[in-house]
Amino acid sequence: MQKVVTIVGARPQFVKASALSRALQQVGIPEVLVHTGQHFDDNMADVFFREMEIPEPAYNLGVHSLSHGAMTGRMTEEIEKVLLAEKPSAVVVYGDTNSTLAGALAAVKLHIPVAHVEAGLRSFNLKMPEEINRILTDRISTWLFCPTETSVANLRDEGFDRFPSEIFLAGDVMYDVALHYSRLSARKSGIMKQLRLHGRPFALVTLHRQENTDDRERFIGIIGALNALSHETDIVLPLHPRTQKVLAEAGIRLNFLPIDPVGYFDMVELLKNCTFVMSDSGGVQKEAFFFRKHCLVLRDETEWTELTELGYNFIVGADQQKIVERAHEMAGLRRSFAETPYGDGKAALKIAEILQNHA
Ligand code: UD1
Ligand code: UDP
Repeated sequence: MQKVVTIVGARPQFVKASALSRALQQVGIPEVLVHTGQHFDDNMADVFFREMEIPEPAYNLGVHSLSHGAMTGRMTEEIEKVLLAEKPSAVVVYGDTNSTLAGALAAVKLHIPVAHVEAGLRSFNLKMPEEINRILTDRISTWLFCPTETSVANLRDEGFDRFPSEIFLAGDVMYDVALHYSRLSARKSGIMKQLRLHGRPFALVTLHRQENTDDRERFIGIIGALNALSHETDIVLPLHPRTQKVLAEAGIRLNFLPIDPVGYFDMVELLKNCTFVMSDSGGVQKEAFFFRKHCLVLRDETEWTELTELGYNFIVGADQQKIVERAHEMAGLRRSFAETPYGDGKAALKIAEILQNHA
């Protein structure tokens, strides 16, 4: 492998790239990082480049805040120019955002093989933009790096064995990231002191999915539950800009003060110290488990079915009463968190070594 171009753009991709970029360096594969610009606030993007071992982007395409079609189209056009100039042996994409699909689409049309990290996940809900992005990206990728056995099974069920792609059960690079940075976070983060959280129980919440923010009934249900629970426990909610905008536009009030999005070290400290998690985020659902916390999933389904099947996470949807009731049950749970459905913490190295031996 002479050189890879990696496409990132949204917060979860910076986090994931931090593991694989390090592993690519370890095996000696040169990497050119392209930031589409999808996320652009300092606390949604730059902070991750400062804190984590991600190479400086060689290109920032500055594409953001557009409709799905416009964003994906504009990114595809700009990524194509970069690929024509850089002529990489492969393109690496992560997850399921518009940046992911644009990167895969630009590459495959130029006959450049695509490595999809976090392949095979399915919610089976085509109303989610992420579901469309991941199905299409999987179909046009050459190497499908699956995080879980379920994701491998999903691809096999869809007939991927007949396609000219290779499926690998690599493990989850987010587990690698959590293990690596959890060793550093206590020294690097000041969030517990800053928010005066020491010795105080609190629930950690994240909320940003379009299916929740853009559906008034669901949004009101979830905010209603958080407001009700805030009378009983502190709630720490690093507010995603999408959610902040919807709250302001809809004139919906929180009974407690949210905080701005935080960097990864702060997030790890919050995960380590909270009593439980409530989230509609893909990544945070798993990080709750990595830091031995139960999570109420504020969605109607999940791609990370291992954790609901093992009894760590609970799908509660957007119904106020159900969320409040399940939150009350969280305190009584005593589970081991001993299973390892996401691999051994060396997923990124496995992926880098496979890439090194191909192409
Ligand atoms: C995107 C991904 C979603 C992922 C999430 C991670 C798609 C379709 N969605 O959703 O899968 O879970 O990122 O966080 O790709 N904004 C800012 N500042 C920023 C970033 C965003 O103000 O730094 C605003 C944008 O202007 C826009 C809104 O937030 O109004 C949504 O941003 P967008 O990138 O379209 O989607 P996300 O909801 O962030
Ligand atoms: N995250 C963070 N600060 C925050 C909220 C999230 O560092 O204020 C991290 C989180 O720990 C995880 C990643 O961002 O590693 C997940 O991103 P997000 O929830 O935005 O996207 P999703 O995983 O749902 O695609």
